Amino acid sequence: MTTQNVSSVDPLNWQSDGRPVPEVKGGNRYLINGEIREWSGQTNEVQSCLFFNWNSGIVRPTLGSAPVLDANEALDALKAAQSAWDNGQGKWPTMTVSERISAVQDFVARMKAVRESVVELIMWEIGKTQPDAAKEFDRTVQYIEDTIDALKDLDRKNSGFSVEKGFLAQIRRSPFGPTLCMGPYNYPLNETFTTLIPAIIMGNPVISKLPRYGQLLNTPLLEAFRDSFPAGVVNIINGKGNEIIPPLLQDGGVELLAFIGSSKTADQLKTYHPKPHRLKSILSLDAKNLAVVLPDADMKVTIPQLTAGTLGFNGQRCTALKILFVHKSRVDEVIDELSKAVNAMPAGHPWKPGAQLTPLADINATTWLRGLLDEAISMGAKIMNEGGGEVIENFMKPAIVYPVTPQMRLHEVEQFGPIIPIRAYDDLSEVMDYAVETQFGQQVSLFGYDPKVLGPLIDAMVNQVSRVNINVQCQRGPDTFPFTGRKASAEGTLSVADALKRFSIRTLVATDYSEANRALINDILAARSSNFLTTDFLF
Ligand code: G3H
Repeated sequence: MTTQNVSSVDPLNWQSDGRPVPEVKGGNRYLINGEIREWSGQTNEVQSCLFFNWNSGIVRPTLGSAPVLDANEALDALKAAQSAWDNGQGKWPTMTVSERISAVQDFVARMKAVRESVVELIMWEIGKTQPDAAKEFDRTVQYIEDTIDALKDLDRKNSGFSVEKGFLAQIRRSPFGPTLCMGPYNYPLNETFTTLIPAIIMGNPVISKLPRYGQLLNTPLLEAFRDSFPAGVVNIINGKGNEIIPPLLQDGGVELLAFIGSSKTADQLKTYHPKPHRLKSILSLDAKNLAVVLPDADMKVTIPQLTAGTLGFNGQRCTALKILFVHKSRVDEVIDELSKAVNAMPAGHPWKPGAQLTPLADINATTWLRGLLDEAISMGAKIMNEGGGEVIENFMKPAIVYPVTPQMRLHEVEQFGPIIPIRAYDDLSEVMDYAVETQFGQQVSLFGYDPKVLGPLIDAMVNQVSRVNINVQCQRGPDTFPFTGRKASAEGTLSVADALKRFSIRTLVATDYSEANRALINDILAARSSNFLTTDFLF
C-alpha cells in the first residue's frame, strides 16, 4: 500500500489533519488455485465512502481498483476448490487436524503483520471509526485463535473410542467439500473470516466472494493466504454477485453456502443449486431487533445502551436496535434524553479522536433512509431531535422518529442506518404482538428491573428471538456465545465452537467388538496409517 497526500476540509467543518489517502497498488489481484492473478478484464474503481471539500468541490479519494471477474473466472475458482477437495481425497481434507491447525497458525502470524494497512483501509473503504476498525481486526485475530483452541478441545474429546452394545467406534467430524463464503460490507473482514476460517480449518476448500464494499482491505492478505495453504484451499474472488454467483451455484459443485446478508438474496441463492437439498447453508440474515423500555427502566443505564445499540457504526449492524418500544409513561423522557445523547455524538472522519458518527458505507444509502423518513413524516410521525435526518452527501445526522405506527415501513423494515423509530406502548401485549408478527427473530433488549414483569417477558421472548438481553444493547459478542436467529433472521448457529460443527459432519468408523477387529484397529493406530482413525492428543 502506498499513500498520496490530500489536504482536506470537509463540508461539515470537520478538522482536516491532512491524513494521507491509502492507495492500493495491485488491487485488481485475486487468488485462485494458489496463484495471485492479475485481472486484465473489467475493473472497478474503488472510491472511499469518505468525502472532502477540496478546491471548492466535493471529492472522494480513489483508493485503487478491484477486479470485476466474469463467470468463467469464478468457475475456475470452483474448479480449484474442487481439485483441492479431490472428491474428499485431497491433501487438505485428509490432513491431520494438527497439520491444518499449523497452517492456520502460520496464516494468523502473517495476518498480524499487515494489521496497520487493513485497519486503515477499513476506515477509508467503509467509514468505520479508527477504534472500531482496530477492534474489527483484533477481534478477528482473537476469533481465529479461539477457533484453534476450540478445535483442539473438540478433537481431544473425539480422540477416544466408544464401546456400545457390541460395537467399537471412533466418532469424529469430517468436512463437506467446496464451500462458498460471502461476508457482508459492514464487517468485511470479521464476518468474512468468521465463516472462512472455520470452513477451512475443518477441511473444506473455500471460494470467498468479497462483499460490495471493503474489497481492497483483503488485498494485503492475499500473499498470506497463498503462502499458508495448499493450492485451491482458499480462493478469493471479486465481482458482481448477480453475474458470478448464479453460475457457481448452478454448477452443483458447491456443497456448503455460508452467506451473511439479506434474506431475499439468500432465498434467491438457494434456488440456483440444482439439488437444493444437497446444499447445506449457514445464513446470518436481516434483523429488526427491538428494545423494550419498561416503566421502571433506569435511564442512566438505558439511554447509553440505546444510543450505542441504535447508532454503533451509524446503525449499520445486523444486531443494531432498530425499533424502540417505550412504555407511554416514559416516552417523553426517553425522547428528551436520547435526543440530548444523540445530538452530543461527535461526527467526523473515522480517525478524528472521539468521532462516533461517520459517512455511510454505501454512498446511496441516504436515498433509502430519507425515503423511510419522508414516508413516516407523511403519515404523522415527527423527527424529534434537532437536525435529525439532515443529509450531507452520504452522511446522515441520526433521526429519532416518533410516533411510529404499523402502517409505516419504518415499523417493519430493517433500516440499516441512523434512524431510531420509537413506538409507545400501553400494555406488553402490544410488544409481544409485534415480536410474534415480525418476520425477523434475532434479538431483543429489555430495560427494567421488576422480576415479576421480566420473568414472564423473558419466557415469552425466548420463543421469538434467539438472544434476550437484559439492560444491555443487542450484540453478537462475546464470539464464544451462540449467534443465530429465528424466522427470517438466520439458519444455523455461528459461535466459535458452533461454527466448527456447522462446517463439518459427524462421521464415525465402527466395527464389532470381535478380537480380530480390535486387533485390526490397534494395528492401524500403531502403524499410524490413518489420519482420521487416531488417538493422537492435541496439546
Ligand atoms: O452486523 C452484524 C454483526 O454480527 C454484529 O456484530 O453485535 O458485534 O456489532 P456486533
